[in-house]
Amino acid sequence: MANAKRAKTIYSCTECGATAPKWLGQCPGCGQWETLVESVAETAAAGAGNRFSALAGTAKLQKLGEINPTEEPRQPTGIDEFDRVLGGGLVSGGVVLIGGDPGIGKSTLLLQALSRLAEAGQPVMYVSGEESAEQVALRARRLQIQGAGDMALLAEINLEKIVGVLHREKPTVAVIDSIQTIYSDALSSAPGSVAQVRECAAQLTRVAKQSGTTMIFIGHVTKEGTLAGPRVLEHMVDTVLYFEGDTHSSFRLVRAFKNRFGAANELGVFAMTDKGLRGVANPSALFLSQHDRQVAGSCVMVTQEGTRPLLVEIQALVDGSHSPSPRRLTVGLEASRLAMLLAVLHRHAGIVCFDQDVFVNAVGGVRIQEPAADLAVLLSIVSSLINKPLNHKLIVFGEVGLTGEIRPAPRGQERLREAAKLGFTHALIPKNNAPRQAIPGIEVTAIERVEQAIDYLRDR
Ligand code: TYD
Ligand code: MG
Repeated sequence: MANAKRAKTIYSCTECGATAPKWLGQCPGCGQWETLVESVAETAAAGAGNRFSALAGTAKLQKLGEINPTEEPRQPTGIDEFDRVLGGGLVSGGVVLIGGDPGIGKSTLLLQALSRLAEAGQPVMYVSGEESAEQVALRARRLQIQGAGDMALLAEINLEKIVGVLHREKPTVAVIDSIQTIYSDALSSAPGSVAQVRECAAQLTRVAKQSGTTMIFIGHVTKEGTLAGPRVLEHMVDTVLYFEGDTHSSFRLVRAFKNRFGAANELGVFAMTDKGLRGVANPSALFLSQHDRQVAGSCVMVTQEGTRPLLVEIQALVDGSHSPSPRRLTVGLEASRLAMLLAVLHRHAGIVCFDQDVFVNAVGGVRIQEPAADLAVLLSIVSSLINKPLNHKLIVFGEVGLTGEIRPAPRGQERLREAAKLGFTHALIPKNNAPRQAIPGIEVTAIERVEQAIDYLRDR
């Protein structure tokens, strides 16, 4: 047999973990379809060390009070916005996964970060599986990336060879661009398959934990916005970052979705330039579309992403539908939330949209997940429907409940202060967020119900 040397492979279910010696359409354990993927059969000894190497040697019961945790030392990359999402910098032995659409700037950002570290004398290693060494060098030259001359590059896609070089060179930071192009000899599946991605990530994570190398995986994102390959990657790594942003705008956001070493939901903001990505230190007004007059269907909200408030314009278009099932479309906002808001509008304010197409967009390619966007979405819809603009110096925030109540948002004061700083003069906010002391320059209207929000719009 050609593969006589190949390690024994088995097929395991991604849902329940049951195994089978050959591939089956249906899992024999849980009965799910198409969940079996190839993986390496482990002997008991190898298996135990494999998965939980970070915990190896701690088989002793301890009281939490007796443990003296030392704060993990951080290695700042020198790119402030990147360090911010990482929670202060890279952690030795930490594993970071960074995902995003093709062409959004993942390779460029990591090239810049590693070059900085290399310039500072750190042994770093950039593993490029997607582009040839010449292509990477050409890009570094074209973007005039500072320090790129000192960065060590390995153009390789074979896992075993990469691990060999890692053991030999012992870099402090290694970037794998991308995890989907790497393959292991131990498996017969194609690179990029669930089995390969999982196995390669597991092996490289083990190297990181053993050697103290910080490992950064670059990953591709599917059309649905999830990382191609198994979700299990997200559980394996310490930090998950996603690149966001409209491909047509020059701004890029990097968001921390999970961070064992810092705050999740922290946001780094970059501008794309002909010299690579440049941090934007003061991004709060980036996502406003700057109308010079008031327009119907537009409402500015203050969202609190991580530690910084951001002002984002929400736009809605409500238009008579020619279809028996009118369209409900959101960009940057949750679609299920829109359906709920339309139902609340109908039941509690008597406003019907069932014969209307409704489109809602968060300007600039930001993705807003917090429910505090509800009030802005609702007001922009009604404003478009009745063709009446809101004051363009107005900001709103607040969550809308199913019974038509307006619920408070966390850190209301900070949001109001940021809006006042940027010259907004009016605020429509939940009653429980009303400041005890007036904030200079901004007139606050505090409300409790959806009906009051609609009246506010109609009365102006
Ligand atoms: P790239 O980093 O290769 O994207 P990804 O790795 O996420 O697929 O960036 C795509 C292209 O955009 C690349 O040719 C370089 C160019 N680019 C700039 O010119 N300036 C920038 O600031 C960035 C981020 C990219
Ligand atoms: Mg790339």
